[in-house]
Parts: sequence; C-alpha cells; structure tokens
Amino acid sequence: MKIKSVIRTLITGACAALWVTQLAAAESPREHLSLDSNWKFHLGDDWPKALRLDKAGANAGPASEKLFSDAAWRTVNLPHDWAIELPFDKNADMNHGYRAVGPGFETNSIGWYRRAFELPKADEGKRIWLTFDGVYRDATVWVNGWIVRRHEGGYYPFREDISDVVKYGERNVIAVKVDATKFEGWFYEGAGIYRHAWLDKTAPVAIAPDGVFVYSQFKNNLPVGAAAIHVEADVLNKLTNTVQAMVNCEIISPDGKSVAKFKGMQKVDGELQATLKLQSKVSSPVLWSPESPKLYKLITTVSVDGKTVDQKETIFGIRTAVFDPDKGFVLNGKPYPIYGVCNHQDHAGVGSAIPDALQEFRINQLKKFGCNGIRTSHNPPTAELLDASDRLGMLIMDENRLLGSDSENMRKWDVMIRRDRNHPSIIIWSVCNEEGAVENNNQGRDTARSMQSYVKRLDPTRPVTYPAPQGDTVGGINSVIEVRGWNYHPGPDMDKYHAKHPLQANVGTEQASATSTRGIYESSAARGHVAAYDEPPHRWVTSSETWWSWFAPRPWLSGGFVWTGFDYRGEPTPYGWPDINSHFGILDMCGFPKDNFYYYQAWWTTNTVLHLLPHWNWPGREGHEFRVDALSNCKAVELFLNGASLGKKEMKPNSKLTWMVKYAPGTLSAQGFDAAGKVMAETKVETTGDAATLQLTPDRKTINANGEDVSVFTVAAYDAQGRFVPVAQNKIDFALEGAGKIIGVGNGDPSCHEPDTYVPNSSARDVALNEWRWKVVPFPGGRRSVPEYTAGFDDSSWSTLKGGRGEGTIKTDDTSAIYRAHLTLTEDDMSGPGVQIHFTGCDDEGWYFVNGQYVGETHDWDAKPDFDITKFLHVGDNVVAVCCRNGGGQGGLNPNVTADIIAKPGALPWSRSLFNGLAQIIVQSTKDAGEIKLTASADGIIPATTAIKSQTAKSRPSVP
Ligand code: GAL
Repeated sequence: MKIKSVIRTLITGACAALWVTQLAAAESPREHLSLDSNWKFHLGDDWPKALRLDKAGANAGPASEKLFSDAAWRTVNLPHDWAIELPFDKNADMNHGYRAVGPGFETNSIGWYRRAFELPKADEGKRIWLTFDGVYRDATVWVNGWIVRRHEGGYYPFREDISDVVKYGERNVIAVKVDATKFEGWFYEGAGIYRHAWLDKTAPVAIAPDGVFVYSQFKNNLPVGAAAIHVEADVLNKLTNTVQAMVNCEIISPDGKSVAKFKGMQKVDGELQATLKLQSKVSSPVLWSPESPKLYKLITTVSVDGKTVDQKETIFGIRTAVFDPDKGFVLNGKPYPIYGVCNHQDHAGVGSAIPDALQEFRINQLKKFGCNGIRTSHNPPTAELLDASDRLGMLIMDENRLLGSDSENMRKWDVMIRRDRNHPSIIIWSVCNEEGAVENNNQGRDTARSMQSYVKRLDPTRPVTYPAPQGDTVGGINSVIEVRGWNYHPGPDMDKYHAKHPLQANVGTEQASATSTRGIYESSAARGHVAAYDEPPHRWVTSSETWWSWFAPRPWLSGGFVWTGFDYRGEPTPYGWPDINSHFGILDMCGFPKDNFYYYQAWWTTNTVLHLLPHWNWPGREGHEFRVDALSNCKAVELFLNGASLGKKEMKPNSKLTWMVKYAPGTLSAQGFDAAGKVMAETKVETTGDAATLQLTPDRKTINANGEDVSVFTVAAYDAQGRFVPVAQNKIDFALEGAGKIIGVGNGDPSCHEPDTYVPNSSARDVALNEWRWKVVPFPGGRRSVPEYTAGFDDSSWSTLKGGRGEGTIKTDDTSAIYRAHLTLTEDDMSGPGVQIHFTGCDDEGWYFVNGQYVGETHDWDAKPDFDITKFLHVGDNVVAVCCRNGGGQGGLNPNVTADIIAKPGALPWSRSLFNGLAQIIVQSTKDAGEIKLTASADGIIPATTAIKSQTAKSRPSVP
C-alpha cells in the first residue's frame, strides 16, 4: 500500500469515528436551510472576464470574494424576477410581453447575484449542498471563486455538493451570473433567481438528494382494503469505506397516528450510492382526492452502527389514478372528469417570482369555479405549486419543457420526475408540448417512446401523455404515447380517432384558447381589449361552450385543461402592442374573475349559478342594442329590464342564454328557475354613479411574520350608494405602515403599462479622496495595525499629496510608505446601505485600513480593489490608511481613490390605476409581528384604510 493511501484510510477512519460520536448528540444532523434572504443584485454584464477557464478557483470580478465589494449592489430576497422591473418596449419580444429583455436588450439581460455566508467550524466533515430551484435562464455559479456549476435551462432545479470548496469558520461567497438573453419559450419567462435557493448540510452518510420515493398500490387499481406501500430509499455514502446503513421507515396517518413501521439494512460502498427497496401496507387507508386532500407522512431514518445519521420526512398520498380508454380518468375507482386549466407561472405584480402563499391564493381562485386540475404548461413547476396542490387538492399534469432523449434532456426529465414523483396531486407526466416539426415522424415517435419507457423505471404508477395539436392523426408520437393528448380539435375527429384506437386512453390536454378582457364588452384593437362574450376570435380556438359541450357528454375523453386558467404576460392574442398580456384566462393576471368564470362555475360545480353580462353603465348609448348573456345552471332564466320581462328561456346543459336588449339606464335583472319552475336564483346589474369611495379587502386578515407570507389586497371603487363601479379607472396611490411591505401591484388590464413593481433607486454620492499625507516608513508588517493607521494619529509633519502619485512616488526598491486621507461622513450618509471604497492600484503591494482596522490587501500592482468599508465607519471624521510596499522600480498609491456613499432609498411611489373597478396589491410580511396598515387613495374620492395582523411565526430555518 502506498503511503498516501494509508494516510487517506486513516483520515477517513478518523472522520467516520468523529461522525459517530457527534451523531449521538443530535436526532438528525440534516439541516435544510433557506438561502433566500439578503442577496446582492447587480443588473448588467460589467464583468465579462469573470469566467476564467484556465485555472481553478481563480476567477476575477464579482465571483471572487477577495477584492470585490458588492456594497453598491441592491439587496434582494429570492424569489426575484428582474424582468418585471424593466420598462415595456414596443421593439421587444411580443411573446415575452414586450419587456426590454432578451435579444436586442443585452444590457438588461445579464444579472449578477452575490450572497456571503459563514459556515461554523463545527460543520467541517459535513456535506454541504447548494440548490437552486430555478434560475431563468443560464446560470454560472461560483463558490469562493471556484466555478461549481454551469447550468442551462430556466425550469429545472440544480444542486451541487460544494463541501470541497467552502471554508469552515470563515466567510464564503456565492456568485451567480444569470444570462437571460436567450428565450426558451414563447411566453413571458422572467429573468433571475426566480425560485428558492437552499443550503443543505448532511452527514457524509445520508439520504441522497430526492432520494426517497414512496408510492401506494392496490390490486387492480381499486382502492379496496389495505394499500401496499413501496419505499425506495437512496443512501449516499461520501466516506471512502463501506457502511451498513439501517433504514427505518414510519408512516404517519393524516390524523397524526403511526400506522406502519418497517425497516431494512443496506450495504453502501465508499463514495457510492445504493437503493434499498422496502414494502409495507396501510390498512383502511384514507384516500387523497381534490375534495379530501388527506396526506400521509413517511419518516425515513438512516442509522449507521446504531447512530442516526439522517432523517427525512416525505409527504405522500394514497390514491389510485388511472386513465381508462372507455371510462376516461378514474380517481379512486370512480370516473372523475378533469375540470382543468393550463397555466404559465407568472402573476400580476411579481412576475415569475411567486411567493409560496401566492401559489395558494392562485389555487384557491381556481377552485372557486370548480377547477380541479392544472397542467403546468410548458415546463416543470416550482415545487411549492405541487406542495400547495397536494394540500389544497388539485390534480396536476406535470409537463417537461422539451422533447429530447439525448443525455442532457434525459437528465432534466430524470430531475423532474425524481423531484416530483411523491406528490399525490400529480396524475400524469407530459413529455413536452406541441412539437410540430417532429410529432409525425419516426424520430419524434422514438424520442417520445424513449422518454416514456424511462419513466417506468422511476415511477411505475403514472402514465405519460403528449399534448398533440392534431386531429385524427395516428402516426409519430400519438402511435406510441400511452394517453392521447388533445390540443384543440373538439369535434368528429375525436370520435373517429377513438373508434380506431379503442385501447388508447385520451385527455383534453389543451382546449379553448378563448380570449376575453375582464369587464370589456366591445372589442378594440387600438386599446387591445377583447369583448368578454366568449366568442372565438381567431382560427384555432373555440369558445368555452364549444369545447366543453363536446367533452362533457364523452367521459372517455377524461375532461381536459382549458387554455388558460390565468392570463399571463406575453402572447397578447389576438392583438399586439399596446397589449402586453394574453387574454386566454378564465381569471385575469390578478386572479379577478372574467365572465367565463361563471360559465365554468355553472357547469363544473354544484352551486346554483346565475350571472349576467355586460355591466349596465353605457351613458350616451341609450337605445343601442347590447347583447346580454346569462351564465347559469338553472333550468330556465327570465331577464328583466327595469322590471319589464324580456322573456324566459330554457337552458340547455353546458350552454348559456342570450338576449339582445336596447340600453336604458336602470336595472337589468334575472331570475333562474328549477325544473319545477321555482325561482332558485336572482341577480341584477345596475347603472351606477361615478366612483365615490374605495374599499380595500385582504384575502387573509392574519398572516405570518416570517418575511415571506403575503396577503393579497383588492382595491375596489364604489359609488355614493355603495354599488361597485365596473367602469372605474381611477389612479390609486398606496401607502403602507407597519410590519410589511408592498411587493407588487396589478389590475388585470392587458394593455396597462404602469409598473408592476417599484425598486429602490440605488443612487450614490461619490467622494474623491484627493487630500493625502504620506511618509516613507519601515515596513510595519502586513495586517498588523499600527498607530499610523488610526484616526487619532498626528500626521501634520508628513508630506502632503494632492491626488496620489507624483510627489508621493516611492523611488527605491523594497521600501514602504503609509498614505493617509480623511473621509467625513454625515448622519445621512451613515443611514444608507453602505459605503464602498475604490482604489486604482497600489504598486506593488498594499494593506488597507480604515480607522485603524484592517480591511484587505493586494499583492499585484495591477489590482484595483473595491472594499465595503461600512462596518469600519462612523459619523464625523474617518481615516483611510494604506501601507504600500514597493518591490522594485517606482511604486506607491495610485491617484483617483473614490468612496461611494450609497444613498438611503426614498419611499417608493406605489400606485396603480383601477381597471374596470379593481386593482390588486400584494403585501408581504417582514419578520416583525404587528399590524400592517394599507391605505388606498385617489383624487376626489374617499380613501380606504385596512389593517391586517402579522402574527408571530417561526421563520423557516435559514442561512443567516
Ligand atoms: C397552443 C400552445 C400554447 C399557446 C396557445 C395559444 O397551441 O400550446 O402554448 O401558445 O396555443 O392559443
């Protein structure tokens, strides 16, 4: 045995022993820490040379902690989407919502993030993992100047074991360069670290990332009797020696009882991973469904030599989900039509950086009209959408971004499935969306087949589909895919196809694409608004009524997913500029219901629904004939204008009723009848006065003071008689006091170019340090502080120096000099985020001090260091001192030293116009408990103030 390997074995043995003793103390050494807070952000590619591929750990610019100060960068918390902060530009990409980002806007398309963190000395020996849940788009990640990852693709999480390059007991710096120049989709995609980031610490023997898979099975997929439970646990051994890992599993029922315990032993060789498969059962399981989303918990504990090395909780559900060629989708043994929607992942105010609580808000809005499913078009979603879907009850079609069986695409497909396969909400995987160039050929077919068969290795429980924009077409992907996905084409093609392929199940992967603008009843290309009468305005789309009345009587189609649940930025169909949003939503960008909401509510819920459109505010249009629709599930509806009947009509299932009515101000009202002719619902629409007062309504009156939770406020305009004004467009200003902050505003107008968000301007006062005194001195010795560096030192006998070099040049070799300058700061200066000092060089080496405290050093005559000196400063006189050592030739401190005093950001001018009576304000808690008071005011009308409570709550464990 070579000496080196003997030493290695000894070290490994020592490490393992150390671990075993340490582990006795803690139940599980795993720490899952949020890395969302306190990032520094800079927009622009100011460091194009940062990527060095010649030497490891030697990167320049913001990637290295050594000489770089990010004090002038803006502090942001994740999730963060900088595209939302950019202006609209008519020359920018329409499909991405005309934001000034992407091709043609290169300076806006590269952003830098930095985050410093300390790792305690005690962490030495642990494995440290860095995870980004999603970065749009290409990311280069450095840790302490080491390139640890280059990742392409905006929709997949990526993770690195950074244990080798971090420093224990010291400061570490993560730098991420994000390049959003290249688009991936044809819809708004955002820019930046728009999902969460995490730092995980584990023992060297631990459950591998995404390393627990649990699923249930019943005989013949019928949930009768006990559920068989299968667990696959991947144990990772980062030690060099083999270990015997004991894996203990415990299942906790939805009501908190332990219902199963089982275990197994797994040998894991050094530096390898091994999978242990275990089986158990749960008798009389409580089934998961959208109506009753009951969740089980699996606790997986790994121990080595009797000591716990890891423990992880995995949430799962017990249910059966089958796509049947005749019955359609069958959940828990019963046919279950999917009342679904497709959604992209952005929301008003925040873009693609959606706080977790907003995911819940969005799901709750969808559930209000009976929606029970989401297709995550056209990419894997953020994990928190899936968590919320498990908890609140939503079926998910989880979609991959791109068709491809090459190693990189398969890696992404693998990442998505491993991350997501425990979620009971997911009922089907989708390989991609509409790959028109290849869907009919053999290559497309074989690629889809490879992807589909790969899934079977990772998940034996769910089928795979492909959303095909085709009619009765059998070639290519459709010929191999398990569940035929139908994008559009409701009509006889579906029946023909089904007759020819009776053994293939079907699902409506994408339907309708009906466009409408909330509260608009006359289309206008100039304003970019589409009347909300659910008319198909362009060729490939159908109305809500057309597709749903085709699907409803055909259960074998499984129901389907409407394009879309929410409006999203980009794809402003059927118009372009000034439209910046799509109009496909049943809900607008904010989640405010459009009229179509009531169509679906009528036919997708058991509530009694009666809704009339349009509004009845048409001054000057007296006598004009308006179309009036009743959206209802009553058997008949009678319409009245100012009390006079305009006729009673029978409602056919899955349809709506229409009258043409000459406008006269007053009240349009309706009565809905049941089959026996009894009135079961009434509604009215009134002509209102102008907006006289505002009302603010939060979706939640109490939120958690964890710095993440949000309440979504609606501001609405009412007339003097307290009636909602559906045409009010007043500009509203918002002011917030207390323990929260506004993070975004919106109004659902697809043509509104007002800001979604306001960011602090990062102005800085530059102070030139021109007045120096200097003196040649014996070298005082590196970092050691001497009196000459302190504020109190009397330097009046030293030579003066204007600007720097010149008469301050050191002319002899191996000679040192100290240079001193004063920086006077006011209270105002010190109230800002910080002060950064910029040196233009110290020839050959320099040691930098502020008020006698060591700041940093350089050993290269060409280095131009920036230092964040905030923590060394105080109000009044401060002294900056540099000890400069000339090795050979001439040397000294270079001129043009500047200090940037970063100004305290002013109050942000939050405002938004109402769009047809409504606007939305998203308010986030801070970590302080207390009241959050929001005021909405507008010229000439009575303002509104509403307070909510931010209650003391545990923040999630996070990196300080
Ligand atoms: C579909 C496509 C969607 C969206 C939609 C607009 O064909 O899958 O992403 O573009 O058209 O109608």
